[in-house]
Amino acid sequence: MKLILSKSPKIKGKIRVSGDKSITHRGLIIGSIAEGKTILRNYSTCEDCYSTLEIMKELGVQIKEDNKVLEIEGKGLTGLAEPSNILDCRNSGTSMRLIAGLLAGQDFFSILTGDKSLLSRPMKRIVEPLRRMGAIIYGRNNDEYAPLAIKGTKLKGIDYKLPIPSAQVKSSLLIASLYARGNTIIEEPTQSRDHTERMLNLFGAKVEFKGNKIILKEKNKLNAQEVFIPGDISSAAFFIVLASCQEDSELLIEQVGINPTRTGIIEILKKMGAQISILNKKEICNEPVADILIKGSSLKGIEIGGDIIPKLIDELPILALAGTQAKGKTIVRDAKELRVKESDRIHTITEGLRKLGAKIEEKEDGFIVEGPVKLKGNICESFGDHRIGMTLAIGGLLAEGETTILEAECINVSFPEFIRTLRRISGKNNIVEKN
Ligand code: S3P
Repeated sequence: MKLILSKSPKIKGKIRVSGDKSITHRGLIIGSIAEGKTILRNYSTCEDCYSTLEIMKELGVQIKEDNKVLEIEGKGLTGLAEPSNILDCRNSGTSMRLIAGLLAGQDFFSILTGDKSLLSRPMKRIVEPLRRMGAIIYGRNNDEYAPLAIKGTKLKGIDYKLPIPSAQVKSSLLIASLYARGNTIIEEPTQSRDHTERMLNLFGAKVEFKGNKIILKEKNKLNAQEVFIPGDISSAAFFIVLASCQEDSELLIEQVGINPTRTGIIEILKKMGAQISILNKKEICNEPVADILIKGSSLKGIEIGGDIIPKLIDELPILALAGTQAKGKTIVRDAKELRVKESDRIHTITEGLRKLGAKIEEKEDGFIVEGPVKLKGNICESFGDHRIGMTLAIGGLLAEGETTILEAECINVSFPEFIRTLRRISGKNNIVEKN
């Protein structure tokens, strides 16, 4: 599918974005091994979450979708069944890494695979620590890549210091630890998103924190819960940047998750001069939620690096676009992890934004953007990467002339309602889908 966009009028209005993708994955996995029926409200209907959902069904879990609610018949920790076929995570790194941790402690054999992009993403980062827990797990090319073959076995707790901040690795180990003898201690170099810890606590597991150490005590039982999933701040980010870059815009995004391990985008945009207010803050199911009000303003470039990177890792492509509209240089460093996402995002965002006329230079661990520039429409590749596709689509709404995004269907990987939501606030005629 091609997405054709032209310059948007000023943004005005009120929207909601769909439920958080990271939290939905965790709800599906933890709900499946809890005792009793877990309910997920406002879950994400993105393709990645359906990969996890389908895999949990293949492991024998009954999951019903009813009127925008997911009902998961939890099997308890030891009730999953051996799948009769290989399990396909498609594009979803979160599915593969978290479910590998789950499968390591089962008493059966399984194989995880994925699409071309996922088969080229690093897996040794989970294989190595899971093996230290006793897991029998093998990957292609000397454990570097999936497919992963797992012969479930008895596990033991570990004391492990993550070499890189990664919520997927941390969560894989925490889920595996539910099946381990002894306590598990995980230390992070910098805090990454903590949805797994929060959800495990909500379901009754014993997760404790000491400085930057996470301690999961042995012998947990998980009790089913009714979970409301807040709007995904990583999806909201596209609209936050669009409204921030257009003077006189005003946008309210309701019920967004503002977990402090995810709000780097807001911290940075505020430092760039954006007018963003957090309203109606509350805590729902162990996660902070609020409405976000954005008023268009003029932005200035800043330097982004260090400990904030894991808090906005998925928002760096859209922040690069914000950089094109900001006065001066926006410099991103310490973000080498971007090279092993759904695409090499340092490269693909540089290529994509250059097509729209941006001044952006690729660096080993980030990029430098110089602004402000008047963007010009062009034909752009999404590189099959949802966040690159959506960033360039927002670029198309800021650019003069017409912008075409190729292979735009990849947007469904994280945000199937993206185009519909954009049309609501930006007009119907300037956003056209073509097969
Ligand atoms: C995610 C963690 C992050 C993020 C990804 C979702 C998660 O990846 O980029 O989109 O749900 O745990 P890493 O753990 O590899 O940093």
